Amino acid sequence: MPKNKKINLTIIFGGKSAEHEVSILSAKSIVEAIDKDKYNISLIGISKKGDWLNIDKEALLSGNLLLEQKAPKDKAHAQKITHQKNSNFLQEIGIGKKEVNVVFPILHGPFGEDGTIQGLLKMLDVPFVGPSILSSAINMDKDISKKLLKEAGIPIVKFATYRKDNKKNISFDNLKKLLGLPFFVKPANLGSSVGISKVNKNKDFEKAIQEAFLYDNKVIIEEGIEGKEIECAVLGNENPTASILGEIIPTQDFYSYDAKYLDENGAEMAIPANISKTTTKKIQELAIKSFKTLCCEGMGRVDFFLTADNKIFVNEINTIPGFTPISMYPKLWEKSGLSYSKLLDKLIQLAISRHQRDKKLKTSV
Ligand SMILES: Nc1ncnc2c1ncn2[C@@H]1O[C@H](COP(=O)(O)OP(=O)(O)O)[C@@H](O)[C@H]1O
Ligand SMILES: [Mg+2]
Repeated sequence: MPKNKKINLTIIFGGKSAEHEVSILSAKSIVEAIDKDKYNISLIGISKKGDWLNIDKEALLSGNLLLEQKAPKDKAHAQKITHQKNSNFLQEIGIGKKEVNVVFPILHGPFGEDGTIQGLLKMLDVPFVGPSILSSAINMDKDISKKLLKEAGIPIVKFATYRKDNKKNISFDNLKKLLGLPFFVKPANLGSSVGISKVNKNKDFEKAIQEAFLYDNKVIIEEGIEGKEIECAVLGNENPTASILGEIIPTQDFYSYDAKYLDENGAEMAIPANISKTTTKKIQELAIKSFKTLCCEGMGRVDFFLTADNKIFVNEINTIPGFTPISMYPKLWEKSGLSYSKLLDKLIQLAISRHQRDKKLKTSV
């Protein structure tokens, strides 16, 4: 790594996921906040179809960016800026024409938060922000991650999982007996609440199962918890630290896709969350324990349920949380005393130091 030289940082955003638009907003916020004296930025946008495109900084900052190779014909999008130039990122890195010191893949959800791009970057021997391939994949899978948390003695909700090939064994009555009502039916590997249903009665059950199996070959069904949704930001590699806590207060039945992205008033945020010091400390400790158990490094937003009688359950860890100006992860750090721009410095340093650490490992006997 060049000393006292600007770091060449490539930000990859967009992607083939339901959070494509959020990712563009995250990337825009990062570019706005990052210390320009420290980094040379290059931008790659991945379209919804999967094309890799070179993007100008001004186009991203305009707030009007549409990641498509060809200008769309419809009027609604006619004013949007489009890009037709394919990125030669892989060539640049592979052949080493242009040195990329570190990559920040700010891709939320599948094809970005799940180990896929992490694998590609690892093969290319480039440091990247956020957890490893393994940790990304584990955290994307609600079934595997819950099994590991349970094994470590971390409180999680009761759940059952089914693969498509044993779908015939799923019965409403058995699940009602096992989990009570309501229960939640989810695709095992997804995010953004896509494909998730809350089931209160037999009538809604079949549709919920069908919906979840549209998105994954494995579904997870969980006991429904009534309580607060609490989030904690964790940062670090070997010695991670926890932020203050925030609360998400959905105004709908649960924190659904609509509440997250379509309904402007779908949820409110309270930072810090209005809970006792003792419970806050317990949640922060559990956040760090969960982060370590699920092999996270760099960053992770650990999400919890907290019941009225103070029972805590870990719900999930998001390994590439939102980075928009109103996103919980950067807000929690800001309110904990670490500015957005300093948070970015820290994440990039963590990426580089992990890469240097792993480079020291022997690769032959
Ligand atoms: N077991 C549960 N009990 C109560 N609410 C739940 C439960 N599971 C999910 N939810 C609700 O659904 C939302 C999305 O579920 P989550 O597991 O976080 O999936 P995603 O990865 O899509 O965010 C949660 O934020 C919460 O509002
Ligand atoms: Mg969630």
